[in-house]
Amino acid sequence: MTLSEASTRGAAAVGARGDRTALPPPLLCVDGVTLEYRAPGRVVRATQNVSFDIWEADRFILLGASGCGKSTLLKAVGGFVTPREGRILLEGKPVRGPGPDRVAVFQEFDQLPPWKTVRENVAFPLRISGRLGRKEASERAAHYLEKVGLTRFADAYPHTLSGGMKQRVAIARALAMEPRVLLMDEPFAALDALTRRRMQEELLALWEDVRFTLLFVTHSIEEALIVGNRIALLSPHPGRMRAEINSHAWGLHSGGSPDFQAAANRIHSLLFEDGDAHDGKDRQ
Ligand SMILES: Nc1ncnc2c1ncn2[C@@H]1O[C@H](COP(=O)(O)OP(=O)(O)O)[C@@H](O)[C@H]1O
Ligand SMILES: [Mg+2]
Repeated sequence: MTLSEASTRGAAAVGARGDRTALPPPLLCVDGVTLEYRAPGRVVRATQNVSFDIWEADRFILLGASGCGKSTLLKAVGGFVTPREGRILLEGKPVRGPGPDRVAVFQEFDQLPPWKTVRENVAFPLRISGRLGRKEASERAAHYLEKVGLTRFADAYPHTLSGGMKQRVAIARALAMEPRVLLMDEPFAALDALTRRRMQEELLALWEDVRFTLLFVTHSIEEALIVGNRIALLSPHPGRMRAEINSHAWGLHSGGSPDFQAAANRIHSLLFEDGDAHDGKDRQ
């Protein structure tokens, strides 16, 4: 598999089958989306005319330097920011606000209410969203806590857990909602390098098991290649799509290989070929 700016999954599938109609409709369609923050006398354009499609069970990555609008795009898919231009469709229907079909995991370790135990943290959203009764919510929480290896810590409070364990709880809580799309905004960025690598492994193992659809934001090229099967490269100010690439050829065990390094270098030059924002710190 070679990297190519045009090698979208759609294009690859069309090439392989020679028949565009054979593609299923995308689960999530982001179509020409321009996002702005407005304050009196000031408009910040976060993204301009960004388009991508995500299919069921994709692990789709938004990759770019800080400030290129990744988090704002995730918020727009989450329904918290309304596009100035363009549209966002989930299963063909416009996204009009937040909903339990899109659940987010963030970088911050304080996303769990500290007064609830691990089990309550996972079960509570299931109950308040009206999806499940108390008993069913508790059972579903136990199921997903088992999947992230935290059964023994179900009765612990968040402050007693490590950063990695808190992120596992946040992931279990999100997956327990069984969303159509799982949104993750730099979920491992605040972890030490070894824990981060382990969390990437665990996330991929969970994906093998559950086959959720993932929209994942990172500024790390290496993380994008490991976690994703498709990567959107964004350039900053405002965020624009620079390229989209297939990355399913790389995974946990391709880290040191020459192919992987070549892919990382190619992405790096695609992201920074204008020299903007390149200070060498964004390569991880
Ligand atoms: N609440 C806000 N009000 C005004 N501008 C914002 C706000 N949040 C983000 N921005 C601006 O929007 C742009 C994109 O930000 P963001 O989506 O956070 O980028 P990223 O996640 O890629 O670092 C940046 O220029 C940022 O300063
Ligand atoms: Mg961000």
